[in-house]
Amino acid sequence: MTTRIEVPIGLPHPQQQPEAPPCITVVFGATGDLTRRKLMPALYNLAAGGHVRDRFAAVGCARRPWTREEFAAQVKAGVSEFSRNELEPRVWEWLEPRLDYVSGDFKDPATFQRLKAALEELDEKLGTAGNRLFYLAVSPDEFGTILRGLRDAGLIVAPGAPTFSRVIVEKPFGRSLETARQLNGLVAEVLDESQTFRIDHYLGKETVQNIMVFRFANSMFEPLWNRKYIDHVQITAAETVGVGSRGKFYESTGVLRDIVQNHLLEVLTLCAMEPPNSGDADDVRGEKLKVLQALRMPWADTVPNDVVLGQYRGYRDEPDVAPDSVAPTFVALPVYVDNWRWQGVPFYLRAGKKMARRVTEVAFHMQPIPLSLFGNGDLCEHVEPNVLTLRIQPEEGITLSFSSKMPGHDFTVTPVVMDMKYTEAFGGEPPEAYERLLLDAMRGDATLFSRRDAVETSWQWIQPILDYWDSHPPRDLPNYDPGSWGPEAADRLIQRDRRQWRNP
Ligand code: BG6
Repeated sequence: MTTRIEVPIGLPHPQQQPEAPPCITVVFGATGDLTRRKLMPALYNLAAGGHVRDRFAAVGCARRPWTREEFAAQVKAGVSEFSRNELEPRVWEWLEPRLDYVSGDFKDPATFQRLKAALEELDEKLGTAGNRLFYLAVSPDEFGTILRGLRDAGLIVAPGAPTFSRVIVEKPFGRSLETARQLNGLVAEVLDESQTFRIDHYLGKETVQNIMVFRFANSMFEPLWNRKYIDHVQITAAETVGVGSRGKFYESTGVLRDIVQNHLLEVLTLCAMEPPNSGDADDVRGEKLKVLQALRMPWADTVPNDVVLGQYRGYRDEPDVAPDSVAPTFVALPVYVDNWRWQGVPFYLRAGKKMARRVTEVAFHMQPIPLSLFGNGDLCEHVEPNVLTLRIQPEEGITLSFSSKMPGHDFTVTPVVMDMKYTEAFGGEPPEAYERLLLDAMRGDATLFSRRDAVETSWQWIQPILDYWDSHPPRDLPNYDPGSWGPEAADRLIQRDRRQWRNP
């Protein structure tokens, strides 16, 4: 006899409460912003949710000569300020003795010897079994030094050993195709690909993970998911904030490297990929890679017409920004996936800072109806095509707009919306991306991490755009007002295809 567990919609399935294996997470760059704002609150929430249990420790490593107590105080302050859940004394009392800190220069082999000794002591005390997850929350020019330091200290064990060593590498993963390849080569000197976890925090967002579930756990959308029914797709990542204190980083990065090469292409591949053979990391990542390989290459003669860059007025007055900077803070462009399913369907990508609203979403605009049965002939032009929107953030959810008869004695057609909200369906805010990603890396599941071949293929695609704009810097910057939807040229870009941006 089989037993079926009935789980009410909205409650987590008991089998879906994953737990990390015994392990120590070591964060390099432990005094930085990412650690304080994201990583430590994520570890705290994993502890609060029971995903990490007794055989767990977190060790910070950085140059600053902090004591263990100072580090713990910083973690506590970070959790109090940035965690999605309030700091609970019960959870903190559990976590605090599992924190440790090792200070030292990453160039000095003695730092890694001290780290090794600290980790072995924690293994003894907490039973963490020699398993290590190293997180490189540092600038990419330090990756090599740290990886070699770890290797030379014997802190990296080969895959297949009874214990594991895994490394999470933060973005930006290179700043060009060439540097990405160099970085991959450097990582591969020390680690096997199965030990390398290249993080793109977008992949850890609940709503981004749900793209696959929405597509492959429902049968009704798949028949529509192609060029026959979809007219075009708009992927928007709009932020209301400017670059703030990250002017120096942004000057050398710009929106194409910061958002398009990674976050937006990851979302695009999830939307456009074929169903994988299974949910295994390599099956999923193999299908995503095929989408990247099918992207139509931008060429020097198409880039000036197809890629609109913008910079918000006031960007040049931000700290650490050059007074004549040409770093773009906005981009809009159509992308084509040249394969059987998507031939001729533009995926319009748009990203920008200081925009009118904070919204990240994917909107699938369906084909218009061929003929209107209601009213006079040209009315079908006024019947709005269906739009299916996956709202990544904020107000996470899914909406479907369709036409409906307006109550009354005639056939007036009007658009209405079906709206699924995460907060209503599941209660509360979805967990932070870093929680899921840290847990997955501890469990050795690389599905939500970027693979080497995909990272290089995405750089290969974007490189001609970077090259063109590096050699022909746009002359009209700054060209949009803070609080707007970007430069007018972005409107013209989509209007020339007789379409409009959806400005939610
Ligand atoms: C980061 C970028 O990767 O993503 C930032 O470097 C950007 O510039 C951020 O603000 C956006 O992330 P989120 O999760 O706030 O959408």
